[in-house]
Amino acid sequence: MMSDGYYSSKKTDNVCGQHATRAALSMSRRLRSVMQGLDLKALLFLFVGLPFGICLFYVHGQKVTYFLRPLWESPQKPFHVIPHYYQENVSTETLCELHGWKTREFPRRVYDAVLFSNEVDILMIRWKELYPFITQFVLLESNSTFSGIPKKLAFAENREQFKFVEPRLTYGVIGGRFAKGENPFVEEAYQRIALDHLLRIAGIEDDDLLIMSDVDEIPRADTINLLRWCDDIPSILHLQMRNYLYSFEFPLDDKSWRASVHRYRKGETRYVHYRQTDDLLSDAGWHCSFCFRHIKDFIFKMGAYSHNDRVRFRHFLNPKRIQDIICRGADLFDMLPEEHTFREIIGKMGDIPHSYSAVHLPGFLLENADKYKYLLPGYCLRESD
Ligand SMILES: *[C@@H]1O[C@H](CO)[C@@H](O)[C@H](O)[C@H]1NC(C)=O
Ligand SMILES: *[C@@H]1O[C@H](CO)[C@@H](O)[C@H](O)[C@H]1NC(C)=O
Repeated sequence: MMSDGYYSSKKTDNVCGQHATRAALSMSRRLRSVMQGLDLKALLFLFVGLPFGICLFYVHGQKVTYFLRPLWESPQKPFHVIPHYYQENVSTETLCELHGWKTREFPRRVYDAVLFSNEVDILMIRWKELYPFITQFVLLESNSTFSGIPKKLAFAENREQFKFVEPRLTYGVIGGRFAKGENPFVEEAYQRIALDHLLRIAGIEDDDLLIMSDVDEIPRADTINLLRWCDDIPSILHLQMRNYLYSFEFPLDDKSWRASVHRYRKGETRYVHYRQTDDLLSDAGWHCSFCFRHIKDFIFKMGAYSHNDRVRFRHFLNPKRIQDIICRGADLFDMLPEEHTFREIIGKMGDIPHSYSAVHLPGFLLENADKYKYLLPGYCLRESD
């Protein structure tokens, strides 16, 4: 360009040539300044920023909305937390008195009712923990997951292992409805209603204690002993539990509250898993989520449970990825903590710190540590089968 201009200036028509060059130069300068100005930014935004943003939101959208949760969802009304007193050597009379309750002359009967999916090990630890205080173990299982996927009757297949509860067991099976494209909460509600029927078949009476909790929400034995011996306990009481993820190596927080204990009322008490009252008994047990022995159980649960929409990408179900996440205490669904203040969200972001404490865990777990190693600190590697 420059050399062309140099030679053309030596010709007769150089004026025109010079003029054209100057025009072209100024035009390109103007064009460049326009491009560098607003319009270039707009173009960049349109062709680079926007697709990139959409892509980013597609991958991390849930994170953005979860991070902004404090803006779109207010926290639930705080519970009335009841302090919990317990020490092995202190008598039940003294313990009831400390809670402001009288002691009964004989204990209430206790029903432990669960909807069973496939958590055989956790069920064993739960029933061994509660065994001394339970009148009837009531278990219902379906051949459908809540999300309508056919499943094996895992309890029926493993019933042999649970011989010790047989004289006190009421077991029921219900056929799934396998409704296509239905909200999983409908199948869940359907199974809970069936559990109400099963409880009546099991012979539950007014003022018997009924434990309503998922299999992995395990009340401590002493909690149930206290509640069966003390009079004037609230008619419905939620149980605060320590939350663990994958195993007792990863304590998350102490905010599990869904488990509840009811003084049964015929015609009134319904087996549900949501908030029913303000009363919450502090430090009443353990909630071990995703505490499975096999990687395939993680994969099954990720697809089966009521929030199966969280499996946004196939690679979430990659066994190597899952094993890595378990050992790091990270999130299987790559999501942010479900909290209601920015402080709590930020405080809980990242991996759960490892715990090296195996103090105050279910007794049966420690007595059979060899068999249930994967639930203890230091043994995060799962059987790959
Ligand atoms: C508990 O009671 C037993 C027997 O009464 C006694 O030997 C033991 O020292 C007590 N332990 C504690 C921690 O108070
Ligand atoms: C589920 O169980 C019901 C009742 O026992 C049975 O009729 C149905 O065929 C079963 N379905 C599957 C997919 O196993």
